[in-house]
Amino acid sequence: KKRIVSGIQPTGSVHLGNYLGAIKNWIPLQDVYETLFFIVDLHAITLPYDVQELSKATRATAAIYLACGVDVAKASVFVQSHVRAHVELMWLLSSATPIGWLNRMIQFKEKSRKMGDENVGVALLTYPVLMASDILLYQSDLVPVGEDQKQHLELTRELAGRLNFLYGGRKWKKMGGRGGAIFKVPEPLIPPSGARVMSLTDGLSKMSKSAPSDQSRINLLDPKDVVANKIKRCKTDSYPGMEFGNPDRPECNNLLTIYQLVSGKTKEEVSQECQDMNWGTFKTLLADSIIDHLHPIQVRYEEIMSDSAYLDRILVEGATKASSIADATLNNVYQAMGFLKR
Ligand code: AQP
Repeated sequence: KKRIVSGIQPTGSVHLGNYLGAIKNWIPLQDVYETLFFIVDLHAITLPYDVQELSKATRATAAIYLACGVDVAKASVFVQSHVRAHVELMWLLSSATPIGWLNRMIQFKEKSRKMGDENVGVALLTYPVLMASDILLYQSDLVPVGEDQKQHLELTRELAGRLNFLYGGRKWKKMGGRGGAIFKVPEPLIPPSGARVMSLTDGLSKMSKSAPSDQSRINLLDPKDVVANKIKRCKTDSYPGMEFGNPDRPECNNLLTIYQLVSGKTKEEVSQECQDMNWGTFKTLLADSIIDHLHPIQVRYEEIMSDSAYLDRILVEGATKASSIADATLNNVYQAMGFLKR
């Protein structure tokens, strides 16, 4: 079976963008691939964060994975920092990562420009090396990536190739540059189109955990009345009817897309159903549809959170399984790089 890894940062509450763009797409993958889904807590400290909240958000994110349908009979669920090899491999990889490659990363450039060099930690620069470690450690075949992560995955691929070239030796050459003596070179798995969810208050920027206004996103755990209220107050326009794909109507396109994804209908069905609706009618339909979709997830979430021993056990089992794969890769890399065997 081909192997897939993916994760979400415990930096705040998981929102509809994380769900529709990532978690929901993981569910069918579990039946086809060997899957490892982790909570990337080491990434969550890249920018200033709330120490009191980190462990709570980590547990909550794990519970959300399970509540959304991640099935531990099929997938491994674990916390990144519980598998020490992530940080260790990162150091080894960083020794072979040219600084120029990292300086070119758009996310780093954007965030560091906003915050200024004196306020940004080195981890913001080296974040993509940790991400490469997350992926290469498991010899992953495929990585689900959104538009914003494509550049980082490309860096992972280049790093895998570079390490294979530098330390893979003859075995790597014999394999003709494919498959990798040390690392497998992972391929991107592009999620189905329309999975990029935009902010409720601005149809041109993505729905995000870090946006200051909570009105801009639907959190997966938002109660019914909060969802209804956010949809009621979200940005609209003054065009008649509802339509997909009009560049002058990003909010309309976004909300129709959300409706399509939560209702499970096709784009054509949604177009037909909603084209003559006014905003008021459509918003009621959308709010009800989101509430119906989130309800079973929220019920399951509460069940999982009420049994903390169960969640702890899942995370221990997940970390044990992940460590056995990760340690094998790590030992191989140490050896290939010439370290004395322990
Ligand atoms: N708006 C979105 N639409 C579709 N997919 C999204 N993802 C995030 N936002 C959207 C996907 O969710 C996964 C987890 O992302 P992350 O935890 O690494 O955080 P992020 O990508 O930086 O986005 P967030 O959650 O909004 O956090 P901040 O505010 O910190 O940027 C990824 O697969 C991502 O593509």
